[in-house]
Amino acid sequence: MRRSGSVGMKSGKVTLVGAGPGGADLITVRGARALATADVVIHDRLADPELLDLAPASAERIPVGKGKGFGATQDAICDLIVNRAASGRQVVRLKGGDPFVFGRGAEELDAIAAAGLEVEVVPGVSSALAAPALAGISLTDRRHSASFTVLTGHRAKDGHNDWEALASSGSTLVVLMAATTASDVAHDLIDAGRPADQPVAFVHAAGTDRQDRRTVALADVARDGCPFPSPTVMVVGEVADPRSVQRARTTSTASLV
Ligand SMILES: C[S@@+](CC[C@H](N)C(=O)[O-])C[C@H]1O[C@@H](n2cnc3c(N)ncnc32)[C@H](O)[C@@H]1O
Repeated sequence: MRRSGSVGMKSGKVTLVGAGPGGADLITVRGARALATADVVIHDRLADPELLDLAPASAERIPVGKGKGFGATQDAICDLIVNRAASGRQVVRLKGGDPFVFGRGAEELDAIAAAGLEVEVVPGVSSALAAPALAGISLTDRRHSASFTVLTGHRAKDGHNDWEALASSGSTLVVLMAATTASDVAHDLIDAGRPADQPVAFVHAAGTDRQDRRTVALADVARDGCPFPSPTVMVVGEVADPRSVQRARTTSTASLV
């Protein structure tokens, strides 16, 4: 993925960096090092703004978040990344969480590779894992769940998810982007057989000083939706209920450590 630049011209490179969730101190050391040598930082809405201070003062900083007030299309973002790197600059593409977990990092990687540019991926701590962990929820717990599945709430109604399989799996479900679709997700899961009284935890703004958590039953979610705005992670399963952990502790045998 290396471009053969003209003689004497500095060759550009793109580093796709996962910013981690929420707080600026949840980026990896490798990600912080990439920022420290960047000529250009192209960053999205969920990356902590404090991370921009890690880049040299001379670095160009370009916000391309797709939230309110921003209109950049994915194609325009890919073109921007490629054009800056093709002009010989060290480009850091900074994305919230991990670039490859509902982050469209694959599309950017393809565009950079198609342009023949050097590219490196620095993984990030995904909110799918970190938001539950920061709220004290263990996604796997041998007393309750041996697996977890990460899905998006965005596509709750388009037939993308096999709700029967998700409901019957017994797997902990981690739903991203469910702030406006949590009610649909909960209805689909109950219709497919998940118990209506199963606990659901919502973790909002994980890793920031605004972090908040609420635990309710799946039927409550079907009725009332998500209690927080975005960004919020929804965790469905017995591991979500702090009381079930307590119950399991008091009834567990010595072999269930
Ligand atoms: C477009 S996805 C990007 C996910 C990101 N690539 C990752 O690995 O965390 C955005 C969703 O991630 C979740 N999210 C990201 N940061 C979060 C945070 N600090 N607290 C809670 N949820 C978060 C929310 O569900 C949000 O709607």
